[in-house]
Amino acid sequence: MKTLIRQGTIVTAQEEFVGDILVEDEKITAIGQNLSAEADQVVDATGLYVLPGGVDQHVHFSFTYKTARVRGFETSNAAVVGGTTTVIEFVNQEPGKGIAESIKHYEQQEVLGTAMADYSFHGIVFEATDAVFEEIPSLPEAGIPTLKLFMAYKGFPYHCDDEAIFRALKASKGTGVTIMVHAENADVIDVLQKECLSRGQTEPYYHAVSRPPFVEVEATQRAINLAILAEAPLYVVHVSAKEAMEAIRDANTKGYPIYGETCPHYLTLDTENLAKPDFEGAKYVCSPALRSEEHREALWQAVNKGWLNAVSSDHCGFDWKEQKHLGFGDFTSIPNGAPGLENRLGVLWTQGVETGKITRSKLVDLFATTPARVNGIDHCKGHIGLGYDADLVLYNPNHHSKISWQTSLQGVDFNTYEGMEQIGRPEKVFLRGKLVVDEGKYIGEKGQGKFISGKPFGLSYQGV
Ligand code: URP
Ligand code: ZN
Ligand code: ZN
Repeated sequence: MKTLIRQGTIVTAQEEFVGDILVEDEKITAIGQNLSAEADQVVDATGLYVLPGGVDQHVHFSFTYKTARVRGFETSNAAVVGGTTTVIEFVNQEPGKGIAESIKHYEQQEVLGTAMADYSFHGIVFEATDAVFEEIPSLPEAGIPTLKLFMAYKGFPYHCDDEAIFRALKASKGTGVTIMVHAENADVIDVLQKECLSRGQTEPYYHAVSRPPFVEVEATQRAINLAILAEAPLYVVHVSAKEAMEAIRDANTKGYPIYGETCPHYLTLDTENLAKPDFEGAKYVCSPALRSEEHREALWQAVNKGWLNAVSSDHCGFDWKEQKHLGFGDFTSIPNGAPGLENRLGVLWTQGVETGKITRSKLVDLFATTPARVNGIDHCKGHIGLGYDADLVLYNPNHHSKISWQTSLQGVDFNTYEGMEQIGRPEKVFLRGKLVVDEGKYIGEKGQGKFISGKPFGLSYQGV
């Protein structure tokens, strides 16, 4: 099957130019001007931007918070309709099982036959045992070069202390495995939460009060110090505070392989959302908490300068009526996390490109190219180039819409960006050469997604 995509403006992380792309079966086989190949179908992309399919390196299709569990891979078509063709899911370590074994089991039970986007995985440490640390060097053999530990969430089964973080970092040294951390000081949050509750401060807004920026800054700085001590790379997920970003930037500037990402909600939304009446504020309960304009502006500067190198959704499909309401009367029981898988490209384009905060090439870098590299899947994903998977988004910049949960495929009863104007949309999306979105509508099949094996050394220890 040959598809010729003609006269689109092709955007990569380095450049943009008008040209043609030839796709043969699943791969890009030619890029150029006026390609004359015989094709089974010709797509006129005049006036459209052709972007590489997005790589969302921070997705939760299996996260649990107390008794609540997010929507799973049956909603992964939301990624595709939003221009993300590869998702990287954080998989829970199962009791008594190793990391790779837990991931294999999860894939067999919940992903195979269901996934509608291509996918890769990160492990999550639940049981910080010798066996887990001993397993770390062999994770790349299973195509898993990344492992996350939660410094936050005291009392939850996935909380890890400094000993676990440090041992994981030490075990990863020289192996090509990247340790990722959710950096917030769990003990301080616990004290502040209890103080709020004892004063009768139970509403969603107190989620932010009990998680001020410095609980994130302190933990980020600590994780950086532990990584430097262990001589290992570190990736800090969902950075939201200016000073946490600056700590990462400064360590990186000194030559340490310390990196981080942020998320669309930290770039565009405000703490004040948590104060919305009638428990609406619960929709914005995610960790770290939403911040103020000062932090948002610093984050835009950071993504523009490359101080944070990716923008990920941190998608969590908890619904509001049932699941967020588990925390009615006690904000600490509101499931943490916000949906956003479908909106990453639209929000970045509208709030970033259209406002002049970032260029289209920078968007591609943050949305696809660098996350592919960080996770070792850049041999086939995240770029428009010869031999790459034909994951292509034809973005129509002239379409105007309003974001709404009612038109979303995320499968939850609210949208984090409800009512936000969106400029442009993915008009067509190809997943490995197959048309899966047409005229902005998902037309793919259940189970079409395939596992993409990650290679080690996405972050290498250069020069230190
Ligand atoms: O609030 C959040 N971010 N929930 C998802 C789990 C995590 O902490 O990444
Ligand atoms: Zn987290
Ligand atoms: Zn997360």
